[in-house]
Amino acid sequence: MQRRDFILGCAAGLGCSTDALAQSPSGTARPYRRALLVDARGEGLLAREIAPRQNLLFHYPYVGTPAFLLNLGRPTATSSALSTAKRSRYQWRGGVGAARSIVAFSAICAHQMAYPTRDISFISFREQAGPQHRRAEVIHCCAEHSQYDPADGARVVAGPATQPLAAGVRAPDPAPATLPAGATQGGELFDAFFAKYEVRLSLEYGARARDRVGETCTVVPMDQYCRQQVRC
Ligand code: FES
Repeated sequence: MQRRDFILGCAAGLGCSTDALAQSPSGTARPYRRALLVDARGEGLLAREIAPRQNLLFHYPYVGTPAFLLNLGRPTATSSALSTAKRSRYQWRGGVGAARSIVAFSAICAHQMAYPTRDISFISFREQAGPQHRRAEVIHCCAEHSQYDPADGARVVAGPATQPLAAGVRAPDPAPATLPAGATQGGELFDAFFAKYEVRLSLEYGARARDRVGETCTVVPMDQYCRQQVRC
């Protein structure tokens, strides 16, 4: 297995191991508990089972923090130099899987933190271009139209966001076809997110929103998770 196949897209791409990031002077991976991504039956999700260009959601590293899992259907960049709003630089190492097409990013918009709830989502991956986004294959937040390129580390390509979506990093694993999450990379917004949405999150998760996830994270299609997806 190639080293880059260990990366599972920090807030934007499966791509490099936490070890690799830790060795990088510009790496900013923050390790969290290793958690295996599983399907609705609780079985480990295999990279080859992920349908191209489908919006999938899981929660990591906290019970209340959503993330996208995407198979872009084409290889991503192999390395992207990115920077957070506070000018902390990091290197995103691309997608994982045989085609380097599988990425994972925080689903919390880097602008004003719109995120998918059970009721509604303003942010999702869009395969086609549309009236408010000239580019196809972007993660688009309809709140104020921030757009991110998931093939390039969720770099901002339009709108008011000032940093990429945080990316998820795949943990090393002896079963390389599975997808264990192990860290995040880039501009995390979790503290601000929990503060802003304290009431809403308590209604949705009770006291568990800020608990760390367990040994598995269930991946679900966005259209099964959200009752309404806003398109723009
Ligand atoms: S919250 Fe997403 S663009 Fe403003």
